[in-house]
Amino acid sequence: MQFNPTIIDHFTNPRNAGEIPNASGVGTVGHPVCGDIVRLYIKVDKKGAEEVISEVKFKTFGCTAAIATSSVATELIKGKTIKDALAIKDQEVADALGGLPPIKMHCSVLAHDAIQAAVADYKKNLGQASMAEKVLQENLKHEEAELHPRKK
Ligand code: FES
Repeated sequence: MQFNPTIIDHFTNPRNAGEIPNASGVGTVGHPVCGDIVRLYIKVDKKGAEEVISEVKFKTFGCTAAIATSSVATELIKGKTIKDALAIKDQEVADALGGLPPIKMHCSVLAHDAIQAAVADYKKNLGQASMAEKVLQENLKHEEAELHPRKK
C-alpha cells in the first residue's frame, strides 16, 4: 500500500504518543472489523469562559494509518477549545495528512471518534452527564454513517 511521506512521518515519529495521568477525559474507540483501537487522553484547562485542551496524548493499537491519524488528530486539537475540537471532521484529519488511501479512510473516522469519546468522558467527569450523552449520540450517528454505510 502506498502511503504519502506525511503519513509515514507521523507513523515513524508519532506526535504526542503516551498517556496523561489524571487526564480530564479519556476516550477509547475500536473498529468493529479491523480491530484497531485508539485511546485518546485530554487535559482541559479553563481560560475564562473557554475550555481549552492544553494537553493531549494517544495510545493506538493499529495499522500505519491508525497511528498516523491519531498522531495528527492530537496536533489538530491541542490548544483548541472543546467546542472547536468537537467540530473537527474525519475528513479534516485525513486532509491534515495529505489524504489517505480510500481503504484507509475509516482510520480517520476512528481518530475523530476518539476525540468525541474523550470530550464525552470529560463532560461526564464534570458531572454533565446529559452533555456527555449528547456528544456520544451525535457521534453514534456519525459512526453509523461512516463505518456502516451499507446498513443504510
Ligand atoms: S485498518 Fe482499521 S483503523 Fe486502520
